[in-house]
Amino acid sequence: MTREELIRKAFEAMENSYAPYSGYHVGAAVLTDTGKVYKGTNIENASFGATNCAERSAVFAAYSDGVRKDNITAVAIVSDGDRVCAPCGICRQVLSELIGQDVPIYLSNGTQEVDMTIRRLLPMQFGIEDVIR
Ligand code: THU
Repeated sequence: MTREELIRKAFEAMENSYAPYSGYHVGAAVLTDTGKVYKGTNIENASFGATNCAERSAVFAAYSDGVRKDNITAVAIVSDGDRVCAPCGICRQVLSELIGQDVPIYLSNGTQEVDMTIRRLLPMQFGIEDVIR
């Protein structure tokens, strides 16, 4: 699957966004080494803190199906914002544990495109090796 195809999958996921509060729609797609794609979108809640971001929805869907870090080959995150959706701090933390450091993360809003990695998005990480020793 090409970069453009994965980005398209993320836009498909964005169509299911449940964002009555922010009106800000996000979609994500996680690609695995078998070619399977897991989609996720942002799901908001009246108790705002209970909101789940698109990229966490997608990576949790992948993990729920048995996928693990080494199986994930790329991630796309898209939004309908004026600029690309830079993953929030919680998502950076979650992705830092659940995907590889150098897995390409494609950000797009349809006009702007930025390629990232979790290594670049989250320097000086707190991780599993800090907790389990
Ligand atoms: N959002 C995401 O889905 N991913 C991010 O990385 C940033 C924020 C969602 C959460 C909320 O539904 C909306 O965008 C506005 O914050």
